[in-house]
Amino acid sequence: MVDPAGHDRIAALLAHRLIVALDVPSAAEARALVRRLGDAVTFYKIGHELLFDGGLELARELKAQGKRVFLDMKLLDIGNTMERGVASAARMGVDFLTIHGHDSKSIRAAVKGRGDSALKLLAVTVLTNLDAADLAEQGISMTPADLVLQRACLAQAGGCDGVIASGEEAARLNAALGRPFLIVTPGIRPLGSASGDQSRVVTPAAAILAGADHIVVGRPITQAADPKAAALDILASLPV
Ligand code: C5P
Repeated sequence: MVDPAGHDRIAALLAHRLIVALDVPSAAEARALVRRLGDAVTFYKIGHELLFDGGLELARELKAQGKRVFLDMKLLDIGNTMERGVASAARMGVDFLTIHGHDSKSIRAAVKGRGDSALKLLAVTVLTNLDAADLAEQGISMTPADLVLQRACLAQAGGCDGVIASGEEAARLNAALGRPFLIVTPGIRPLGSASGDQSRVVTPAAAILAGADHIVVGRPITQAADPKAAALDILASLPV
């Protein structure tokens, strides 16, 4: 049993591991959530839903408050557009940005756009809701797991800083790609929480033990009756 002061110390030590997905429809709701989470959460992810309702302004505000920000934009385009788009995100001063790691040309263009900024580029390899039949539909005969590894190697060779990977993929990627290469893992469910539409879920501790550097958690925190307590419980469950 951890005493409350010990609980706080552990939470502060491990806070960098936890990225909370601000999957809410408006910046006003996101701000209210950030206020409730207080100093328990230091790293936030902004995705498409929030992007179109003040998400970028909120990203700037969070940075001004000393928080870290992950823009989950999953960019994919021709080289010139990738390079200029990523350069623009880098100028905002955000910390993480996702691209689709499908081909060397777009990966290398994104890396060029990042330049020597502090922005970390993370490649999405294969969306976790796709199975072998979905890949076959695209003319791809590889298994999702093999394609994930192939694209992760491409991302690493192209200069990306890491990948988004499920807890099930994290250990294999960690072993194959080594360090320093970030593994950021969504699909996190503490024991006893609803999986919702996620299928390949792991617990927060299992993801870290499998080699994830950061876990991305949405609904188990954002829809909890007490989001701050839910975040602190997750942090307390992580291996130090
Ligand atoms: O609510 P939940 O914890 O399932 O939210 C997970 C977050 O991680 C969502 O913002 C989702 O878009 C994101 N994500 C994911 N699987 C991926 C990539 C991103 O669940 N492969």
